[in-house]
Amino acid sequence: MNPEDFLDIDFQVAWRHRLRFTDDVFAGDEACLAEVLEPSGDRPPRVQFWLDEEVARSSPTLVERIRTFTDAHADRLTRIGNVQLVPGGEAIKNDIHILERMLKVFHASDLDRRSYVVVVGGGAVLDAVGFAASIAHRGIRLVRIPTTTLAQADSGVGVKTGVNLFGKKNWIGTFAVPWAVINDTALLATLSDRDFICGFAEVLKVSLLKDAEMFAQLCDLATRIRGRDMTAAGPLIRRSAQWHLHHITRGGDPFEALEARPLDFGHWSAHKLEAISNFKIRHGEAVAIGLAIDVVYSSLATGLSSRAADRILKCLQDLGLSLSCPELLSDRPGLFAGMEEFRQHLGGRLTLTMLEDVGRPIDVHDVDRELMGEALSRVATIAKPEIRS
Ligand SMILES: NC(=O)c1ccc[n+]([C@@H]2O[C@H](COP(=O)([O-])OP(=O)(O)OC[C@H]3O[C@@H](n4cnc5c(N)ncnc54)[C@H](O)[C@@H]3O)[C@@H](O)[C@H]2O)c1
Ligand SMILES: [Zn+2]
Repeated sequence: MNPEDFLDIDFQVAWRHRLRFTDDVFAGDEACLAEVLEPSGDRPPRVQFWLDEEVARSSPTLVERIRTFTDAHADRLTRIGNVQLVPGGEAIKNDIHILERMLKVFHASDLDRRSYVVVVGGGAVLDAVGFAASIAHRGIRLVRIPTTTLAQADSGVGVKTGVNLFGKKNWIGTFAVPWAVINDTALLATLSDRDFICGFAEVLKVSLLKDAEMFAQLCDLATRIRGRDMTAAGPLIRRSAQWHLHHITRGGDPFEALEARPLDFGHWSAHKLEAISNFKIRHGEAVAIGLAIDVVYSSLATGLSSRAADRILKCLQDLGLSLSCPELLSDRPGLFAGMEEFRQHLGGRLTLTMLEDVGRPIDVHDVDRELMGEALSRVATIAKPEIRS
């Protein structure tokens, strides 16, 4: 073996992740967006806005506000074309033809690698528009302005994009670090109660993985959050975003090359429940059920005390997150197939995150099917319909 025939070179690439918090990105704090954009040579940055249709519908002045904002800042940015509207929710991720439509618009607008796509919407729209932006020219700069609690607390700062294919969640997608993420609390005002509460499944998830004190706070504030008290909800959304950002930038595995994916705690069943229910269950609702299953399993198999498990289940219920889901009982083999899909998506050994305690996650490679079956039954028993009030 000639050593000169082998060239293995490790190298690093520096990324910057920019996260901003504001309460009025298109009016009161308009510099916030303009400041994160870099000029393109000697010209102002070229910016195209993409907006979740549902957000536009529930906030009828928003398109006009975006136009007024860009006109007022014509010296600092150039708006390219109209504000583009796209279907909100999982619909955009389930129709692959929308991807082609988005790429055609980028092409017709002559967007290039130094242009910006600013996407305003829920996690589904951020994922789909982000995917299109990441493959056009091998990456157009993406600024995310998330409009759901879930996207502000979790997916907005993530480095993943994607859409669903072959009936599977996020089967096609990319790892792509966004240029910037701007969390604007005012944009949450028009969100439905159902979607408002969904984000707190991910807030709970990250607290269980990283921060016992945050979990205690969430338990204390759960009923106020359910009533949309922003003085209770706002700081926890912010802390969740910071934890997710910290994990991505400091956790040593932003592009998920390693076996463990702790941020996917509770997600092996959640992704499958979403698909089995034909996406009638929201991601956050499915995550709440997925967390309940893995929390009960942790109490049966990995040392989590039943007191801690009960407290977590109570927190979910106090938040108003229903654990009721007929698919839990009706399609158990389908649900177990989700575990294999989860493994296959990553390749290699099955690695699930469970808990030894709040704030103490543990990797599990072998799942005891009998105990998992018991966990599913117990969650199905807790999940009496009256929980959803
Ligand atoms: N990329 C990642 O790392 C990552 C992480 C977690 C979740 N996700 C994905 O995010 C998606 C879920 O996102 P979500 O929970 O934000 O929900 P969503 O995008 O499905 O939005 C829910 C509904 O609310 C509407 N909406 C959004 N913002 C609104 C507002 N301010 N006012 C009124 N209506 C509004 C949407 O149009 C949609 O109908 C799933 O597809 C999930 O897989 C991705
Ligand atoms: Zn999630």
